[in-house]
Amino acid sequence: MADTAWQQCINPDCAKKYDLMEVLHRCGECGELLDVQYDWDQLPVPGSLEFFEGRWATRGNPVDFSGVWRFRELIPFASVAQLVTIGEGQTLLRKAPNVAEYAGHSPEKLYLQYEGLNPTGSFKDNGMAGAFTHAGMVGAKVVACASTGNTSAAVAAFAAAQRGIRAVVFIGSGKIALGKLSQALDYGALTIEIDGDFDDAMARVQEVSRSEGIYLMNSLNPFRLEGQKAIMYRILEGLKWEPPDWIIVPGGNLGNSSAFGKAYMELMDLGLVKRVPRLAVINAAGANTLTSIYNTVGVRWDKGRYDREKVDAFYSELDAGGIRAHTVASAIEINRPVNLSKCLRALEVMDGVTREITDQAIMDAKAVIARSGIGCEPASAATVAGLKCLREEGVIGPDETVAAVLTGHHLKAPEATIAYHSKEGAGLVAAIGIEKAAFGNRPVKVKNNINDILRALRESEGVL
Ligand code: F0G
Repeated sequence: MADTAWQQCINPDCAKKYDLMEVLHRCGECGELLDVQYDWDQLPVPGSLEFFEGRWATRGNPVDFSGVWRFRELIPFASVAQLVTIGEGQTLLRKAPNVAEYAGHSPEKLYLQYEGLNPTGSFKDNGMAGAFTHAGMVGAKVVACASTGNTSAAVAAFAAAQRGIRAVVFIGSGKIALGKLSQALDYGALTIEIDGDFDDAMARVQEVSRSEGIYLMNSLNPFRLEGQKAIMYRILEGLKWEPPDWIIVPGGNLGNSSAFGKAYMELMDLGLVKRVPRLAVINAAGANTLTSIYNTVGVRWDKGRYDREKVDAFYSELDAGGIRAHTVASAIEINRPVNLSKCLRALEVMDGVTREITDQAIMDAKAVIARSGIGCEPASAATVAGLKCLREEGVIGPDETVAAVLTGHHLKAPEATIAYHSKEGAGLVAAIGIEKAAFGNRPVKVKNNINDILRALRESEGVL
């Protein structure tokens, strides 16, 4: 594969190439992010996306079962023997009419792409299939990440499944949802809780990886984003290979949005799709760097010549004001998204928009999504809250087909869900910082006697 795939700086004025086997986090010349690039002319690219349906018949083969590697001709940096999989990507694209109605959208036009079905309960497993494949190719023995929780769960599980790889995960103190912490511990990762938040953990893990030669698993790693492209392929597959009008995704470290943009750049170049969906990246209001930089400061990718000074000035202001990310959607509680530049590129390629929404809107949307039978964590519900906002503004038309990516399972963050459904007033504010639970479903406490139980049943709607 060495001559048909390489790493390359995304800055068009640099565009330095690096060998596939180098372990880098950024361009050594200019410090920009790196892409994995391919010489498609030398690679066996299928003539149409229907080709991949053939893999459904051979699911007994783990790389055909994988929701990432069954699209391996579109992620061709490794040989089949090198591919690492834990069975990721068995996900679901499902209509949710009640959720669409809540968001003011046509009932038949909203699809939820449920990434909570992954082995570790989040979309991160897609990316880890890519990054662990590369880690294996370069012989990495120790891997590390900073995480708001899901990355650490996925890294820990993949490392446990690859005998001989040790995982180290850096998390912010008190910043991780319980389901995610329990995963990292149970899968056996060395779990380092630093006295700081995700942005601090991300800075420290980069220092440690560089100085100690530890393989970095965060989405700075371009091989991770190669795996995450598969989410776009599976949405296409669910829609019989017809692109939706919109993709909506939460924005945290901005790896997903970056990967989605690259997937569509390539699909268009390869002539495998005829049009590109629009992209909506949704921030939590308390962690709104992308929205501020894109909508308020007005920075654009500008074919790679984006205004880096304006971005630096934005961060200096954050630092000067001592501003820290804060949201109930702890997965996206990030103020320094490492993939900002690639996300700006994706917003250009996919004619994107970005919005910020309140924690109140996130938690209400999450409860509505759950009433469709799909449970997601708060960050994932930002997509539906974002759709509601973009429908109210008229940016998304009522009959446009929308695919919202639900990034993580609701059992990841039970504390937020339980607080929403069981607390009121000041207790609710203290627990998760929102004022009311419009869709709260309070547990009913009764004495251990049949009359009290029957009274409770009679007083509840639609039971007796
Ligand atoms: N949704 C969930 C459930 C996440 O865990 C994350 C990121 C995002 C959305 C944001 O995705 O970074 O691609 O923009 N979680 C990371 C982690 C940061 O450490 O688990 P992004």
